[in-house]
Amino acid sequence: MEIVETGWETKGYLDIPVDPTLDLVREIDKLKREKNAVLLAHYYQDSDIQDVADYIGDSLGLAQQAARTKADIIVFAGVHFMAETAKILNPQKKVLMPDAHAGCSLADSCPPPLFRKFKEQYPDHTVISYINCTAGIKALSDIICTSSNAVKIVETLPPDTPVIFAPDRNLGRYVMEKTGRDMVLWNGTCMVHEIFSQEKITKLRHRHPDAKLIAHPECEEAILEMADFIGSTTGLLKFTREDNSPVYIVATETGILHQMQKASPHKQFIPAPPDNLCACNDCPHMKRNTLEKVYTCMRYEQPEILMDKTILEQARKPIQRMLDISASLGL
Ligand code: 13P
Ligand code: SF4
Repeated sequence: MEIVETGWETKGYLDIPVDPTLDLVREIDKLKREKNAVLLAHYYQDSDIQDVADYIGDSLGLAQQAARTKADIIVFAGVHFMAETAKILNPQKKVLMPDAHAGCSLADSCPPPLFRKFKEQYPDHTVISYINCTAGIKALSDIICTSSNAVKIVETLPPDTPVIFAPDRNLGRYVMEKTGRDMVLWNGTCMVHEIFSQEKITKLRHRHPDAKLIAHPECEEAILEMADFIGSTTGLLKFTREDNSPVYIVATETGILHQMQKASPHKQFIPAPPDNLCACNDCPHMKRNTLEKVYTCMRYEQPEILMDKTILEQARKPIQRMLDISASLGL
């Protein structure tokens, strides 16, 4: 077994066979108490991980939890940029992730050296970056946002402020439409949200005329135009709780359906069909994490997020700015 960790490029995972007779939920709970560890999980995690987590949330909620936790160890069941954000907010704490290969296609679509050159073309612009990016991009940004606060964060700037928005072009376009502002967009996308099929969704709507289409703003423009409601994962969950439709077609990663179904057992939730051949909307990065890997990572305290100190310090400012603005707006 070899674990190689080099700053944000934390590599490897503990490929240790786990005794199949172990009660993993009990063991994870025991490890949490013994080590004063907190388990944070994104809504896109498998349901068994969500069920054992101390906190389940969207990217904003998870960053806020990471900022306020008193635990000594943060176990982050999500993808790399999320665990990295937790480390940036808690440089003294140990931050672990179950599988260090859990990356993000959207974050990968915006390499810092290219973005630096791009930014140089717009020297007067304020850089607002979606949290789904590497620490290197955060270090080059003025403010971070998530899908649940992007519109509000942009609106806090004076109307004539020139803005670069990176890396998600779909969220950027959606924010432009909501705020009526023009922004320079980086051309990045999420591999899960860009593949929903307009044609298949239309057919599904014919079969379920009482269904509402709800979509994450990372979806392509054509899907957002069809949607009855657009929101972050927390926003979509809240909408299905409060709305009275009996059926929803859900255009985002399927992990969120677990909480939707739990909150509204009498309603039907149908994953929006994608255009790909395997016909699923699972994020292959999020789904690298398993309950076994949560257990081994807590037991052996590996893989750990380690970061370059300078990047960490530079990346903290725009994240803190987002947290401060969000707190002042009651988000
Ligand atoms: P939110 O958590 O902001 O809804 O974003 C979804 C996502 O793509 C996370 O990777
Ligand atoms: Fe990245 Fe998309 Fe997966 Fe979220 S769902 S982690 S944006 S690839």
